[in-house]
Amino acid sequence: MSETDLKEIDSKALLEIGNSTTIEDLENLRLKYLGRNGVITKIIKELRSLPQDERPKVGSEVNALKDKITLEIGNRKGSLSGKRAETEDGIDITLPGIATNPGSIHPVTQVIDEICGIFSSMGFRIVDGPEIDTEHYNFEVLNIPLEHPSRDAFDTFYIRKDILLRSQTSNIQGRVMEKEKPPLRILAPGRVYRPDAVDASHSFMFHQIEGFMVDKGIRFSDLKGVLDVFLKKVFGERIKTRFIPHYFPFTEPSAEVEISCMLCSSSGDPGPGKDCKVCKGAGWLEVLGSGMINPRVFKMVGYDSQKWTGFAFGMGVERIAMLKYGIDDIRLFFENDLRFLEQF
Ligand code: DAH
Repeated sequence: MSETDLKEIDSKALLEIGNSTTIEDLENLRLKYLGRNGVITKIIKELRSLPQDERPKVGSEVNALKDKITLEIGNRKGSLSGKRAETEDGIDITLPGIATNPGSIHPVTQVIDEICGIFSSMGFRIVDGPEIDTEHYNFEVLNIPLEHPSRDAFDTFYIRKDILLRSQTSNIQGRVMEKEKPPLRILAPGRVYRPDAVDASHSFMFHQIEGFMVDKGIRFSDLKGVLDVFLKKVFGERIKTRFIPHYFPFTEPSAEVEISCMLCSSSGDPGPGKDCKVCKGAGWLEVLGSGMINPRVFKMVGYDSQKWTGFAFGMGVERIAMLKYGIDDIRLFFENDLRFLEQF
């Protein structure tokens, strides 16, 4: 069996398939080439008598030809039966349909899902809190008394006296702790609102994820361990994390968590890349607020702070998404331009 023989069979078969006008013709051609005593079947049977060194080459050529003829017969069958349908009831079933765009999951939702997944695997329960809440849960329980200057940091939309759009998902802390006893591991994603002028890094509505854990003997090292594991899962094992002293009314001590810039310090050894678009040369990026839950918060919800300790943390979802995907304008998340959304 030479290559020219195969080529001849190839062109003859294709010609015959192309000229066939009925499904019966095609069935006969299938039998002629691929049936039990078909041309191709016979060649395959005869392969055994070929010298050993020729077998693999001829074998693969014959197989390729077999596939080709099978495909051509199938295609021709499709167009012949289509034609028949068209003549019978005027519908051309071979015309391709109109594809619907199934859409994709919004990048903010994707990041929330990913973060919830990571914390679920560490035993955290995902809970939901109200976006319209009272001053009590948004402020008082969190040790942010009325007239206290720290309220300025959480500028708030009021609906009426005492009722507001939550400015932080931390409102979940008091809601859960007043109802449930430790041990607790809670994660709460959701929308928050602040009267900020909209620009590339501010929006009057954005998303936060709050997390906290309360148990016997929880220490700052637990907070560091959990957040380090979490941030490495989101930004890659090569980043480093560091904890900078900070102030939040509801945690004591408090820390801001930073990661080494994954763009200019991808070696894991932070060293400022002066022109880095992401960290602007700092080498580090702030990603989270955190700390040990203030005993005053425990007192407010009726927990014995001699018995229980805990940590809490909060992060902006859009900020995490912007760093993760290299997005430089928060407004892109809310404009719903398909050219942007389709990339996720
Ligand atoms: N609620 C804070 C904010 O809106 C974020 C935060 C910081 C939450 C520290 C915490 C925490 O639970 O411990 O900026």
